Amino acid sequence: MADFQLPLGFNDNHSAQESDIGIQEDTSSTFISQQFPVSRIPGVNVAAVPQRSPFRYPGGKTWLIPHIRDWLSLSRPRVLVEPFAGGGIVSLTAVMEDLVDQAVMIERDHDVAAFWHIALHDGEELIRRIHEFTPTRELVTALERDDVRSLAQHAFRTLVLNRTKRAGILAPGASFTKAGESNKGLLSRWYPDTLAKRLRAIAKYATRITFIEGDSMRFLEPLLRGWGKQVAAFIDPPYTATGGKRAGSRLYTHCAIDHAGLFDILARCQTDFLMTYDEAPEIVDLIHLHQFHAVRVEMKNAHHNRLCELVITRDRLFS
Ligand SMILES: C[S@@+](CC[C@H](N)C(=O)[O-])C[C@H]1O[C@@H](n2cnc3c(N)ncnc32)[C@H](O)[C@@H]1O
Repeated sequence: MADFQLPLGFNDNHSAQESDIGIQEDTSSTFISQQFPVSRIPGVNVAAVPQRSPFRYPGGKTWLIPHIRDWLSLSRPRVLVEPFAGGGIVSLTAVMEDLVDQAVMIERDHDVAAFWHIALHDGEELIRRIHEFTPTRELVTALERDDVRSLAQHAFRTLVLNRTKRAGILAPGASFTKAGESNKGLLSRWYPDTLAKRLRAIAKYATRITFIEGDSMRFLEPLLRGWGKQVAAFIDPPYTATGGKRAGSRLYTHCAIDHAGLFDILARCQTDFLMTYDEAPEIVDLIHLHQFHAVRVEMKNAHHNRLCELVITRDRLFS
């Protein structure tokens, strides 16, 4: 699998450490239905997208932030629920830009969850560990192998592995970055000052962010039901269909989702939502089945390969 590439238009306004955008090259024979219109908002508006997550998350949605701003400014919910939180860029942006009062992030991955627990409740401890650490192959391997003795150590281990593994992949079997940026190897994505800055910013907003570790498929429906327009959901599930560009099973420890079940939940709840998916035949069928709306968001990566993802909403928003 190709390492993440910057899409065209991702200029140098952001320093190297800001280039953690989670877009993958599509090397598979992608199904492109062409039946949905292209979004009126471009995929990446980098100048307007601050990097706020300490993670470089596979499948991260930094490129979608202009859509998120547009959507939330229009609907103005009080609470944003993000049931597949990952690197959390959408929840962080929504709260830090006052697009919502509160965000609820849910994530099933125990390692990622450890990080968010500490980032939200004891960020200074993480910052202390970050400043004391210089990743070498030996130290990172030892950290990965050792049993965790505390939640803070677990959180720190997750962050170190995320920043030193190829493309930020934490799933079992992921390899370490080899050459990395400017041949700096494991150090090429380790920016203590930048990470500390992002963690301090998160700490400032921590009272407005609730993190829950768990399986969203089990409690998304009861969580959403009955709140009407006060709650909206941003939904970015792992997608693993054969030939899908994300090959989700290699990116995440937890990657099996009942996609039809998720669409059913959204149809039943009536909650306002914005959801992203690969443009795969089964997803296209589900969009039609539930009469949801979808637009294609297109972008190109540094190799001029075209990337496309669907943005799905209950009402027509982006066409
Ligand atoms: C596509 S990634 C989300 C990326 C995120 N939007 C970002 O910008 O960083 C999907 C995430 O869902 C998590 N996940 C998978 N199954 C889950 C479940 N049943 N409940 C909660 N989280 C789950 C995965 O661990 C992964 O972190």
